[in-house]
Amino acid sequence: MAARHFLSLLDLSKTELDTLVQRAIELKELQIKNQCPPLFKNKVLAMVFEKSSTRTRVSFETAMAQCGGSAIFLSQNDTQLGRGEPVGDMARVLSRMVDCIMVRTYAHDTVKIFSEYSKVPVINALTDFCHPCQLLADVQTYVEKRGSIQGKKVVWIGDGNNMCHSYINAAYQFDFKLIISTPVDYKPQTELMQKFADHISFITDPEQAVMDADLISTDVWASMGQEEEQQERMQIFKSYQVNTKLLSLAKPDALFMHCLPAHRGEEVTTEVIEGPQSVVWQQAENRLHSQKALLEFLFNNIT
Ligand code: CP
Ligand code: NVA
Repeated sequence: MAARHFLSLLDLSKTELDTLVQRAIELKELQIKNQCPPLFKNKVLAMVFEKSSTRTRVSFETAMAQCGGSAIFLSQNDTQLGRGEPVGDMARVLSRMVDCIMVRTYAHDTVKIFSEYSKVPVINALTDFCHPCQLLADVQTYVEKRGSIQGKKVVWIGDGNNMCHSYINAAYQFDFKLIISTPVDYKPQTELMQKFADHISFITDPEQAVMDADLISTDVWASMGQEEEQQERMQIFKSYQVNTKLLSLAKPDALFMHCLPAHRGEEVTTEVIEGPQSVVWQQAENRLHSQKALLEFLFNNIT
């Protein structure tokens, strides 16, 4: 048995990703009409969490339940992984029992090892390196609000973190222009920037970066695992706050996105996140619909 995995946006082709976004929109319409098909009847998803989550856990668990399947929440504290059982052993055991494995962890190598040892699809639900599931929801939200994202100017403001890395992959896969604006010492991975240099540019000044943007996206300044750097980062990142002034430099109909959880008064002001250009609630909801489409794709591609 061979399975496709979703460790990054690069694991699917451009066509597969476009189809998946359209399917997510369809599945959302069906869910709204209470007509969600039993796509995952008798299927079980194992969800391994080594970090906290609200949206990811609830969206995956709800997706499985609404489509007739079920999900098992496995936190680090409750499994033998937390007591040192090798990742490869856990992957082999889980994949003999469940139909798909979702993993949220620190090192990206951990999800790679899961995928190497698993017979069933493995989904990256966030690592320190990237967060591809979030980008499916972000692109779906843009498409719903404005149509195709191809050729649009998307601006990433803040930390060159896991979300920023997934925006870089998305710029290539969905063919948009990505402007990245971070403090100089907090740029995204150089290798990734070089790989997709055709689709991205770096402008350290956030006011220059957001000029004429179609979409501005940001994230917390200290990610999970960086809590000790929080105070230092507050100082370094303070000119990277998405506030009314910064947003006013973008196109008048520019959208604002944030993967959440947000720290109001830090990377974004209350006025912006609660304002008319913010689509963060739709974006969060779309985690549910886009992950249904992802699960369906992965279940259909086991050979
Ligand atoms: N955006 C996101 O992944 O949220 P959670 O950390 O709550 O899952
Ligand atoms: N960059 C954030 C994203 C949370 C969804 C983190 O890794 O904590």
